[in-house]
Amino acid sequence: MNERITFISDFDDINLKKIEHYIKVINDKLCKVPFGKNIDNRENADTLPYHFTLSAWDISCKEKVIDELSKIGYPKLKILINDIAIMNGKENSYVLYFDIEKSEELKLLQSKIYQMLPSKKYNPENFNFHITIHIDKDYTKIITMKKKLLDNFTPFELKVDTFGLYEIYPAKQVKQFKHFINDKDYEEITPTAVVTSYPRIFTDIPYEKEIYNWLENHCNEEVTLNKMLAPEIEARYKLTSKLLDRYRIKQVLELAAGYSSRGLIYSKKGYNYIELDLENVSKNKIEILNYIEKDIPKSLNVISGNALRKDDFKKLERYLKSDEEIAVINEGLLRYLTFDEKRQVAQNIYDLLSKYGGIWITCDVTPKKFIDSQDKALPNFNNNLSSITSRNNLNDRFEDINHIKEFFGNIGFELIEIHKFNEIKDELYSVNNLNIFDEKIEKNLEDAIVVVMKIKK
Ligand SMILES: C[S@@+](CC[C@H](N)C(=O)[O-])C[C@H]1O[C@@H](n2cnc3c(N)ncnc32)[C@H](O)[C@@H]1O
Repeated sequence: MNERITFISDFDDINLKKIEHYIKVINDKLCKVPFGKNIDNRENADTLPYHFTLSAWDISCKEKVIDELSKIGYPKLKILINDIAIMNGKENSYVLYFDIEKSEELKLLQSKIYQMLPSKKYNPENFNFHITIHIDKDYTKIITMKKKLLDNFTPFELKVDTFGLYEIYPAKQVKQFKHFINDKDYEEITPTAVVTSYPRIFTDIPYEKEIYNWLENHCNEEVTLNKMLAPEIEARYKLTSKLLDRYRIKQVLELAAGYSSRGLIYSKKGYNYIELDLENVSKNKIEILNYIEKDIPKSLNVISGNALRKDDFKKLERYLKSDEEIAVINEGLLRYLTFDEKRQVAQNIYDLLSKYGGIWITCDVTPKKFIDSQDKALPNFNNNLSSITSRNNLNDRFEDINHIKEFFGNIGFELIEIHKFNEIKDELYSVNNLNIFDEKIEKNLEDAIVVVMKIKK
């Protein structure tokens, strides 16, 4: 009968393979079950995957532990394996392990657990996280293994967003706890869709006046509206559409589509068009479409979902033609996300494009320089935006184009085109017909960009 329960990282296959890549140089059989556990055959009992431990308790506390662990919000963690080391184990044994660099996030998670479910050995104030590789009483053997591992070793990163409660030994999983993407955390962004819909009434883009008319009569969002935003919003809309036309990809996924008319216009041209946005926006969008158009093409699908959630991307695949490439589009989502969140969205897009092929067109890679000129062109705009959403944060902006290339390059994207908004200045109705323009807006159009990305070969 198992006596203990332990709470550990549950690495996914990609991260387990990374660990195994380093360990494979050792030809000996490895065992990470400690001595002194009243176990006849340690090797047979060694059924836990490679992991780091956050805490452990007596099995009699199992129900309480499950209860308390269910109350915690689990982060997405990145940890750095910075060394291979040896420490003393039970019954004069030696523990060979990967050392984990100190991490405030990991400490914070362990502190939350410790406060609810204290367990002396796992006090975050004096705990060193590690991943056990092997435990042995033969010191010469352990030191030889360490040398061999170090020959092949450079520090490496692991990611984890899932944690597991296991009975030991042998291991039996009791429950998994996952990082949870909560739509509520993003709903404060949704009023910005009204902020970007309003300026489009000062353009010649079809349907936009009707759309805003519906919003005016049905939404009572407290937002500040700004006519002077029209050139920027019109430029990004038209430049994105122009690039889409040029690639001749007739299947589109528009993320965070908001109240934009593009889906209706392109589905009427025969495109297979999928819009994804949070539920409250997509519900409104369906009502708007029914209000402004009797004949909505079947190839337009407005789907509720979260661009960060992998399962929501899976859900929308049922609307995709499997033999056609996809153009993924988004205008105005990433600027409200932290870099970790941007990475999650980009990873979802990467996975989709790996399967279907295609491109990602986006103006949503906001460099700091652009925010600077936006502040000058539209005084108070960013302050007002920050009062709508706490997610309009300067720290979440890209430094410059190199930062953009590096960030998306690390996920596996290549920037194949970069276009400035002012390329399309002559086609802007707001500028040329309504004269909404001055030199600050001109500078704003100069600093804003739309990029096209593709998966690296
Ligand atoms: C600035 S608006 C842009 C809307 C539209 N693209 C436009 O240009 O008018 C931002 C949009 O992002 C949506 N959004 C925010 N978080 C999201 C998420 N996690 N997944 C999907 N959409 C999200 C909001 O609901 C909102 O419609």
